[in-house]
Amino acid sequence: MKKLPKCILTGATGGIGQAIAKQLSEKGYPLVLVGRNIDKLKMLGNQIPGEYQLITCDIANDADRANLIAKSFHNEEASVLINNAGISNFSTFNQVSDNDINNVLTTNLLSTMQITHAFLNKRSVQKSTIINVGSTLGSIGFPGYSLYCASKFGLKGFSEALSREVANTNTRICYLAPRATDTSINSNNVIGMNKALGSKIDSPEMVAKELIYLLEGKKNRRFIGWPEKFFARLNGVFPELVDLSMKNSLPTILKFTEEKSHELS
Ligand SMILES: NC(=O)c1ccc[n+]([C@@H]2O[C@H](COP(=O)([O-])OP(=O)(O)OC[C@H]3O[C@@H](n4cnc5c(N)ncnc54)[C@H](OP(=O)(O)O)[C@@H]3O)[C@@H](O)[C@H]2O)c1
Repeated sequence: MKKLPKCILTGATGGIGQAIAKQLSEKGYPLVLVGRNIDKLKMLGNQIPGEYQLITCDIANDADRANLIAKSFHNEEASVLINNAGISNFSTFNQVSDNDINNVLTTNLLSTMQITHAFLNKRSVQKSTIINVGSTLGSIGFPGYSLYCASKFGLKGFSEALSREVANTNTRICYLAPRATDTSINSNNVIGMNKALGSKIDSPEMVAKELIYLLEGKKNRRFIGWPEKFFARLNGVFPELVDLSMKNSLPTILKFTEEKSHELS
């Protein structure tokens, strides 16, 4: 039987990360599960059937990243890196702090780029695949999500440019764009807004399935869900049309950015 490559998964303890870990493990992929909390990592490890290694790492911390690189990137078999760790921020731009700007951009974009850089440097000519987990909001500027959109648009641009740069090598750079998914990244305000706007919500298991489809296929990008997939393309060609649709939804969106009492912790 063909030996499956080892996959390094950041954000393994989150909603989508846990679903990815379980499905990859059930298929026989050996895993390096990366998260900030060792108890959550151990709990996940107990739930998966296959081989795994646990590494605690705050990806925004230089020393933690160096430790992750030292412990897992040297491994000849670890040829898949899934950059899934991420945070969100749903508030109008005048509500955010400098700290918020720093945290969202550092976690979702800068640290992910630094991990990718180190991974590719360690692997040089070996076959590797990197999957960056972006978002529909990496293609559509959405009110209340200026920080998150900045980070995910950045991640999409980074993935696309790098993917084209290494097109003639045996490295694949992939980008997965989920739409709203049922995990705790979404505050009660976001859940309320999605309900009010009639937005569809996917399960983390469905997103994990899509990620594995991307990993095992030949394409380098995958956008999940209608009509989000359509709107992402429309926004690229006729952004004015999407401006109009967003303007209609704006009062509803702003109402939820203002309802502080609905926020989770
Ligand atoms: N859920 C959605 O609606 C949705 C839609 C589109 C895209 N996405 C993207 O999908 C990915 C996974 O999100 P999710 O929905 O599964 O969210 P989640 O349940 O909140 O999980 C986020 C994961 O990222 C980890 N993380 C956050 N900051 C980190 C840091 N500084 N260092 C290391 N790990 C860190 C968290 O670790 P801890 O367990 O330690 O907190 C957790 O494992 C994210 O990139 C997100 O942007 C989500």
